[in-house]
Amino acid sequence: MNKRITLLPGDGIGPEVIGSAVKVLKYVIEKFGVEFEFVEMPIGGASYDKYGTPLTDETLQTCYDSDAVLLGAVGGYKWENLEHSLKPEAALLKLRKSLGLFANIRPAKVYPSLADASSLKKEIVEGTNFVVFRELTGGIYFGQPRGYTEEKGWNTMVYTREEIERIAKMAFEAAIKRKGMVTSVDKANVLEVSQFWRKVVGDVSKDYPMVQLKNMYIDNAAMQIVRDPRQFDVILTSNLFGDILSDISGMITGSLGMLPSASIGTKYALYEPVHGSAPDIAGQNIANPIAAISSAAMMLEYSFDMSKASELIIDAINRALQEGYRTADIGNEGDKIVGTKEITNVIMSKFEEIYNEQALGVFTL
Ligand SMILES: NC(=O)c1ccc[n+]([C@@H]2O[C@H](COP(=O)([O-])OP(=O)(O)OC[C@H]3O[C@@H](n4cnc5c(N)ncnc54)[C@H](O)[C@@H]3O)[C@@H](O)[C@H]2O)c1
Repeated sequence: MNKRITLLPGDGIGPEVIGSAVKVLKYVIEKFGVEFEFVEMPIGGASYDKYGTPLTDETLQTCYDSDAVLLGAVGGYKWENLEHSLKPEAALLKLRKSLGLFANIRPAKVYPSLADASSLKKEIVEGTNFVVFRELTGGIYFGQPRGYTEEKGWNTMVYTREEIERIAKMAFEAAIKRKGMVTSVDKANVLEVSQFWRKVVGDVSKDYPMVQLKNMYIDNAAMQIVRDPRQFDVILTSNLFGDILSDISGMITGSLGMLPSASIGTKYALYEPVHGSAPDIAGQNIANPIAAISSAAMMLEYSFDMSKASELIIDAINRALQEGYRTADIGNEGDKIVGTKEITNVIMSKFEEIYNEQALGVFTL
């Protein structure tokens, strides 16, 4: 397998956390005997400073020519006053659109040793491990007609069968490899578009008899996520509802520096931490690289079918945390507070430990 990954480190802490993710990736793929080619390209403010645009045609073309894209973050004070189309953030929107990324995937996993960091009580969040599949290129954010006058405003929530089917299939496939449960979230008691969503998801589910399908209204789902998040495995939902649910789900797990994401289309896939470029802490070796490293783990799972390698990375992160290693953003008194580079090395050494234990048959996950 000789695969090509485009790296877009971007701005602020982007290069630091992507540096960590690549270090872990290189180490892991060597262990698994596969070869990846890495091509680094500029994006965001870094690209604007060099080429006068936050996204060059070369960067876009390199992404088109790759099997996956790993992005850090874009933006910062320096570029805040540029006109809209030149801002670093505009590059990200254009990139996502150009790559046709219709599914946004955000895991909500609570690491046992960080259960105290959640805004919810430890006994409620402990053991939470679900993933949100949000439709990303349709629904009310794109539907026509849209507009407003002095007297009224309007938007249109519209979904085609094809748009629903392709993300539903992705969610059901993911559920097969997890606990086998999909919760489809809609507002079918009020909206016809949701009744249609529910019907199409039901049709898709017939091809997945091994997966249990539940339908839930959005208002109930929001309540259930904070009441008993452990009940979920895969949440499947539309653009608007997913926008809200993925943020709630992320927050109950603790820190922004821990949250990975994947955006996947028919041909392309982009992996990135949920956090921004954190200019306030850039260049100080204190950024938490776990979101970026976990995004790389998602890449192995979703783009390269390397679930075992992906799982081992998450287990290595878990063990590093269990042993008290923390970056400052998630650290408390008594923890071993370390820098970006140091926690990356710890995660790699924990990976090595688990890998050897498994190879010797001492420890099975
Ligand atoms: N996907 C993206 O590239 C993306 C997403 C959000 C914001 N942004 C941009 O990033 C810039 C800063 O935005 P913001 O401050 O609103 O959000 P941010 O996520 O960059 O930072 C919010 C807070 O969280 C902290 N933080 C974030 N990631 C961290 C990490 N890995 N380790 C430790 N602490 C971390 C920061 O220090 C800051 O205090 C802006 O220019 C914004 O437009 C980019």
